[in-house]
Amino acid sequence: MKHQNAKTKMGSDVFIQNTLELESLLAGSRALVEVELNSLLPSTATAPEKIHQAIRWSVFAGGKRFRPSLLLATGQAFGAAINSLVRTACAFEMVHTYSLIHDDLPAMDDDDLRRGRPTCHVRFDEATAILAGDALQTLAFQTIAEDDRLKAETRIALITELSRAAGTPEGMVGGQALDMEAETRQVNGAQLEEIHRLKTGALIVAAARSGAIIGEASEKELAAITSYASQVGLLFQITDDFLDVTATAEDLGKTPGKDAQSNKATYPGLFGMDETRAAAAKAHRDACAALNQIKRPTDILRRIADFILHRTG
Ligand code: IPE
Ligand code: IPE
Ligand code: MG
Ligand code: MG
Ligand code: MG
Repeated sequence: MKHQNAKTKMGSDVFIQNTLELESLLAGSRALVEVELNSLLPSTATAPEKIHQAIRWSVFAGGKRFRPSLLLATGQAFGAAINSLVRTACAFEMVHTYSLIHDDLPAMDDDDLRRGRPTCHVRFDEATAILAGDALQTLAFQTIAEDDRLKAETRIALITELSRAAGTPEGMVGGQALDMEAETRQVNGAQLEEIHRLKTGALIVAAARSGAIIGEASEKELAAITSYASQVGLLFQITDDFLDVTATAEDLGKTPGKDAQSNKATYPGLFGMDETRAAAAKAHRDACAALNQIKRPTDILRRIADFILHRTG
């Protein structure tokens, strides 16, 4: 969705300034997370080599690193040190990348392009892709369990967050199951929203909450972060659906038009493009409203919501 707010010169200058600041912050988060991921993941020379090559093929293919960046931004808003956040941020990226590898398998969305490269099962083979996803998932939990920069009780709280959000019935796997079922069954608006909240929103909510937990947010603050991130998570999948219709393979790093082809339940498919835009704008507004309840420097979280509303890839 393109930027639409160049009403006044001043307004557009501020918007551009904010966008540039956010982009450099996100670039910084990406770089930090990638250095840490590189040290956490086995080298490609580690036996059995093929699976480690496959893991690195999928992880280091230029993803946006949105979930770890959100975790870092949220944690910092609550005063947490970057050092205490970065390994948990990597754990979220590992689970996310595992979910992409499995999402692309022939038995699921059957995609051959991801992050601008052949998908893991195309570049390697199906068995290797399944195992690479499995390995990334377990390494994520190991990473948090062994993070000696965090207290034991914090590690348990984070493992609880991530496991609930990744699994079923409240998390990503539950959402993926519903997404697959919906290929052959008509869903209504409420059911579609539930699919999106589970398959994509749950991990995004848990990433933000984990940053807040490491930053020792109060229960009230955690509740506000939860409602902010649940709107951002929904927004993220609405824009993903929208971009599947409007964007190019070059911008997306994946093949556009696949949702309609696979009869996926999506916002454009169920509501049309205008209502999809309106639903995105509403999720964005609600996300920003939730931030008003937090008396912390949350400007960056507001800009992250703006960024997701306007993203082009
Ligand atoms: C794609 O996620 C899958 C969804 C949950 C919509 P991203 O758009 O964050 O993919 P990468 O990590 O940037 O490749
Ligand atoms: C994926 O949703 C959600 C995941 C848990 C991976 P999509 O199937 O729409 O994601 P893309 O469009 O393939 O990235
Ligand atoms: Mg899918
Ligand atoms: Mg897919
Ligand atoms: Mg999609």
